[in-house]
Parts: sequence; structure tokens; C-alpha cells
Amino acid sequence: MTEGVEESHLVFDRVAEEYDAARPHYPEGLYVALQDLSGVRLAGARVVDVGAGTGISTRGMLDRGARVLAVDRAARMLSVLRARTSCGVLLSDGNELPFRDGVADLVTYAQSWHWLDPTLSVAEAVRVLRRGGAVAGWWNTVDAGRADWLAAYHVRLAESCDGYVGPALPGWSMPPIAEAMGDAGLDVAETWVGWTRTVLLDDFLTDLRSHSYVARLDTGEAGELVARERAELAKVFADGRLTVPMRVYLATGRTR
Ligand SMILES: C[S@@+](CC[C@H](N)C(=O)[O-])C[C@H]1O[C@@H](n2cnc3c(N)ncnc32)[C@H](O)[C@@H]1O
Repeated sequence: MTEGVEESHLVFDRVAEEYDAARPHYPEGLYVALQDLSGVRLAGARVVDVGAGTGISTRGMLDRGARVLAVDRAARMLSVLRARTSCGVLLSDGNELPFRDGVADLVTYAQSWHWLDPTLSVAEAVRVLRRGGAVAGWWNTVDAGRADWLAAYHVRLAESCDGYVGPALPGWSMPPIAEAMGDAGLDVAETWVGWTRTVLLDDFLTDLRSHSYVARLDTGEAGELVARERAELAKVFADGRLTVPMRVYLATGRTR
């Protein structure tokens, strides 16, 4: 799922409001699996959420009783987070965390690890974790194999956007965080959590605008793409309400 080398915080800052308004949240099953695989109970846990963005993952963990510190390099993404979220916030690089050793129970990367350095990031996470703590990375993704319209939609995106990443690319797979955690000497576990997203067409198109490969298009191109998809998707969902098969990939790495 590598999305290229352009400075991601600049790309995401352009679409911070769209991102927060329309990106899907994570299902309850993800938080259950996170606790089961990591061995860390969220209630009371000290969590460093790296690449916290506008706070979708941060709020998910706060709602379950965690004490979360949100870290991101994108100032505008964090200002959206601050407006909606009560927690510590730090504008910082996740490859170089400004914390002492051993202070966290959990370091999380929700939809973000692929933007960081694969080795430095995990080494930093391990450094700031207490013994018995864990690193976790997860990504929400569409389950295009379960719906022909969704597979066709992704083929159109792949044909229209140079920087497209997703299921329409041959050989596309989840970022290799499990391998990185294994290389760092962690005990690794992986799982998938399936769920179904119900979303209004307008929100689905706002979500589309928040993807880095659309955010990088110029305004005219992005507008044309969204108008085309509005027309295509309205042929499938005449009432303007989409049912989207989804799944979350989760990998955890426990310290020994
Ligand atoms: C796709 S967003 C994920 C936001 C949030 N975790 C969520 O679940 O929706 C990825 C975030 O990673 C951040 N990011 C990328 N590289 C980073 C780095 N080196 N250090 C900290 N944050 C980084 C980006 O600025 C962006 O806000």
C-alpha cells in the first residue's frame, strides 16, 4: 500500500476537513482484536497514536478508556483533531519520538505506518514501550472481491490517477508492518476484521477527495473525477445510500 514519496503531511493538510468528515471509522471488532492480539487493555492504557491525523483512531481508543497522546507531522490535520478531541497532541515526526524510553503501553499506527520509515519507526516504538507493551498497525480497506461495482470503481480510479494505490493494482497488498515488527524482535500476530459500511453517496465522494492520489490532482481534474463517479455510482445506488464491504487488516508486535 505504499503511496509514494511526496511529503504526506502536506498532502493530507490539503484535505484535512474532508478526511475527518468522510473517512470511515473502525469497527468495534477492530478494537476487540487489538486488545486480544496485543495483550494490552485499552482502559487506562498509555497509548502513543502515531500519524493520528484528525483523530479518528485517537477518539476510538479514548472512547474505550485509553490515555492517548496524538502525534502527527501535519499541522492542519492536528488542528482538526484538537477541535474535536480532548487529549495530548504533539506535532512531531513518528520516526523520532520525543519521549523517554519505556513510557507507553501501546504505540499505534492507524492507516499511517506506510508513510513512515519502516525500520526507524518500529525501533522508536520499541524504545518508548514498556516491557510487555505492544506496537500495532491497522488499515481499513475495501473488500472489492465481494462487490462487482466496487471492483469496477477501483479499476476506474486506477486508470484515472497516477498515484492510485489499492486493490486494482496487480500484486497490491497490505504494508509489510508484520515483517518490520518481526525484524525488530517482536512477537507478531495478524488478523482481518470484516465489516460493512453504509454511507451516503455525498460522503463517499468526500472520502474519495481525501485520498492522497486524488488530493494530488489539480482542482479541475479532481472535480471531473468526482462528477464522473457521482454519475457512475448513482447508477448502482439510485437512493444515494451505498453499502460497502470493508475489512481491516491488523498486525500487532508484542515486546518480550
Ligand atoms: C491516513 S492518515 C491516518 C490518520 C488517523 N490515524 C486515522 O486513523 O484516520 C496518515 C497520517 O500519518 C501522518 N504521517 C505521515 N508521516 C508521518 C510521520 N513521519 N510522523 C508522524 N505522522 C506522519 C500524516 O500526516 C497523516 O495525518
